[in-house]
Amino acid sequence: MKKLLTVSDLPTLTRSQVRENYKKYMNPGFATLLGLLDFDKLYVKAEGAYVWDADGNRYLDFLGGYGSLNIGHNNSHVIEAVRRAETMPNLLQASINAAAGALAYNLAQITPGKLQNTFFCNSGAEAVEGALKIARIATGRPRIISCKSGFHGKTMGSLSVTGREKYQKGFEPLLPACDLVEYGNTAELEEKLKSGDVAAFIVEPIQGEGGIIVPPEGYLKSAQELCHRYGALLIVDEIQTGFGRTGKMFACEHEGVEPDIMCLAKSLGGGIMPVGAFIATGEVWNKAYGGIEKCLLHTSTFGGNTRAMAAGLATLEFITRENLPERAARLGDYLLSGLRRLQEKYALIKEVRGRGLLLGIEFEQPAKGVLARIAGAVNKISQEYLASMVAGFLLNNHRIITAYTLNNPNVIRLEPPLIISEEQLDILLNALEDTFAKNRSFLGFGLASGKTILAGRFGGKDR
Ligand SMILES: Cc1ncc(COP(=O)(O)O)c(C=O)c1O
Repeated sequence: MKKLLTVSDLPTLTRSQVRENYKKYMNPGFATLLGLLDFDKLYVKAEGAYVWDADGNRYLDFLGGYGSLNIGHNNSHVIEAVRRAETMPNLLQASINAAAGALAYNLAQITPGKLQNTFFCNSGAEAVEGALKIARIATGRPRIISCKSGFHGKTMGSLSVTGREKYQKGFEPLLPACDLVEYGNTAELEEKLKSGDVAAFIVEPIQGEGGIIVPPEGYLKSAQELCHRYGALLIVDEIQTGFGRTGKMFACEHEGVEPDIMCLAKSLGGGIMPVGAFIATGEVWNKAYGGIEKCLLHTSTFGGNTRAMAAGLATLEFITRENLPERAARLGDYLLSGLRRLQEKYALIKEVRGRGLLLGIEFEQPAKGVLARIAGAVNKISQEYLASMVAGFLLNNHRIITAYTLNNPNVIRLEPPLIISEEQLDILLNALEDTFAKNRSFLGFGLASGKTILAGRFGGKDR
């Protein structure tokens, strides 16, 4: 056996060794995709809204861990809290855990309406799985309604309610009795609810991966009323929108919606620990898992471990102490108006939208014939990942990290840590201005990306 690598070896690994490990022992296709636009940099340090590569270059992070870094990278308050818990038993399932009880207490205080009982797990998809299960057992009904272009995860259950065929194809049969409706369409939702066998409607208050889609005003409130009229539960997936991201602690609060079940993850762990959760009303919980007989029907080995809970407690403390929801609302308005100014100036921008610091820029589709003029590998990326060419330009020319949305590759998402400053937002706005001034068409982006690819292939540095 070859010598195993340790944490001490990490600082000595070169960029090409890391690439090689990814290509050979992880996901070769993903490694190639990242490499095409020179995204596979070797980042070695992160703090707040910044990360640094091995050459000491500093980058501004506007991706924010897909919404997991609301309080920034390596938040020292959270790291310290995890450290303070390090002598406590981390895993002791045949007992009760003070840290888990405390975090559940806090979640009941900050979530809207009558949400009360929390189940802790380790990821967003797992939180969705738990929410679907509790909805079925609490109502005794099978059917789950979800939205086209919605995203709830890629495990079997969560994939079954994720509204994009690309991710579902090849994995059938998925969960039976799952139906899709148009996001924002209450008439269609009501038609489905009328069947009387619907356990729950699961919905994102703003579709994140769908392309930062804000539904029509009043949509969520109407959905809640309809669900209750027909005996179904409302599951609100706040995995990406939660913890201040959209300008309120939870996005459904913009409409005064009180879900029966809420899914949480991402920033709940403060960007330090993987933490997921679903929280249900006392009524739903008791119907599902009330009493000794049913209390172990849904469990998780690592869910609620002490260090994860310590991270969650410190994260909530930081978010409330720093009033991050209010900050996201204020800075989000500032960024959105800056983006609107750009939209008026550059025809390539079709729309800018979002709420708080969950914003998206949608690009015009390239005119017919343009794609044909972009050669080879870049052509492939252009068709599937239009916005990633813009992201590539921002990264390689301005050291700003962004990405496209999973269900709508024509949209760039902007979801920086909520601790970002106005000056840092200006850096992004200036970089975007430069990007669009220099690349007035997709052909321009295609050529710029082609140059990046050539540089990456033939002139790339090892670190
Ligand atoms: C709204 C929403 N739900 C669920 C998930 C799945 O979370 P995870 O990737 O932690 O499984 C995501 C991830 O992006 C999400 O945005």
